[in-house]
Amino acid sequence: MQRPASAVAYCLTLFLLARTASSATYSISDTIVGSGFNSAFSYQAISDPTNGRVNYVNQATAQADNLTYASGNTFILRADHTTTLSSSGPGRNSVRLQSNAQYTTHVAVFDIRHMPQGCGTWPAVWEVGANWPNEGETDILEGVNDQGPDQVTLHTSSDCSMPSSRAMIGYLISAVLDTCAHANNDSVPRTSTGNDCSTADTNNAGCGVRSNDGSSYGPAFNNDGGGWYAIERTSSSITVWFWSRNSGSVPSDVRNGASSGTPTAYFPDTDCDFASHFGPHNIIINLTFCGDWAGSAYSADGCPGTCTDYVNNNPSAFANAYFDFAGIRVYE
Ligand SMILES: *[C@@H]1O[C@H](CO)[C@@H](O)[C@H](O)[C@H]1NC(C)=O
Ligand SMILES: *[C@@H]1O[C@H](CO)[C@@H](O)[C@H](O)[C@H]1NC(C)=O
Ligand SMILES: *[C@@H]1O[C@H](CO)[C@@H](O)[C@H](O)[C@H]1NC(C)=O
Repeated sequence: MQRPASAVAYCLTLFLLARTASSATYSISDTIVGSGFNSAFSYQAISDPTNGRVNYVNQATAQADNLTYASGNTFILRADHTTTLSSSGPGRNSVRLQSNAQYTTHVAVFDIRHMPQGCGTWPAVWEVGANWPNEGETDILEGVNDQGPDQVTLHTSSDCSMPSSRAMIGYLISAVLDTCAHANNDSVPRTSTGNDCSTADTNNAGCGVRSNDGSSYGPAFNNDGGGWYAIERTSSSITVWFWSRNSGSVPSDVRNGASSGTPTAYFPDTDCDFASHFGPHNIIINLTFCGDWAGSAYSADGCPGTCTDYVNNNPSAFANAYFDFAGIRVYE
């Protein structure tokens, strides 16, 4: 983690137009660029709790196999794309990173040039507390099988819901119907059931908001050179924005880190006590395959054969299953 000496002097003001003319002042706390990812994050060689066809490797293996690569202002995180797997052996080698720092109230801006694509892929950039779901989870960038747009989701313990009318441009996703198989089915009516964030009430689906921007995920995101995701967590709201690389509405300060304008997703504390539902969060970046979401939606998403067979037998199909981060900037 780099902490530039000039950081303290570098403050920025966020004008959150979606709300009452509130504004907050933040100072940069972490600038994570290039090889800085290797000191800001830890590699987690753990098993995937969502049953993915993945084998998360440690830092030594990731670097030896070039699954992570840092140079200048580039950090690549990818899955193995050369090995054909034995169906009785472990899943496809990939990487899960967890930030060493934890954040409560903060702004984080993720400048991403490319994200993993391909049938069977389930990439995510998210924030989560140690005691899940009691300390909450915010999924910032997540989806499966190249099916955009992006889905922003909170997962919490019980008694946390969102008001049905919110100042955001994303769409509600029906949590009750959204248990994997219908996650990407836009013909499923979006109802107010999508406002319940409790994992217990929603079979783990949480309260999701689908971006209105087709460039926010997968091949469309990559074709546009990626873009910026930003999250702001205050003591009373969680807000997520997305701007495509060539969007005319990218706030000038976002290129250096900040957030403004009507958000993609807005989660206020109207019907959710934030102090008891959200603890300190780590940032997680991971790429898994198949499993509870990508696997169950696989056929409906138009992917060939079965997800596990595809991941085992088609390594070259994962040549584009990589993140390219230009940087992450965190303000507190
Ligand atoms: C990867 O991220 C997804 C999205 O939040 C999550 O559901 C899954 O459990 C993660 N896998 C691991 C091993 O953390
Ligand atoms: C490692 O990956 C980077 C980024 O994709 C690439 O530029 C580089 O050539 C790779 N190195 C090797 C030895 O394959
Ligand atoms: C999408 O949802 C509609 C309405 O429930 C259903 O009729 C249709 O079969 C679903 N399509 C897919 C691909 O799941």
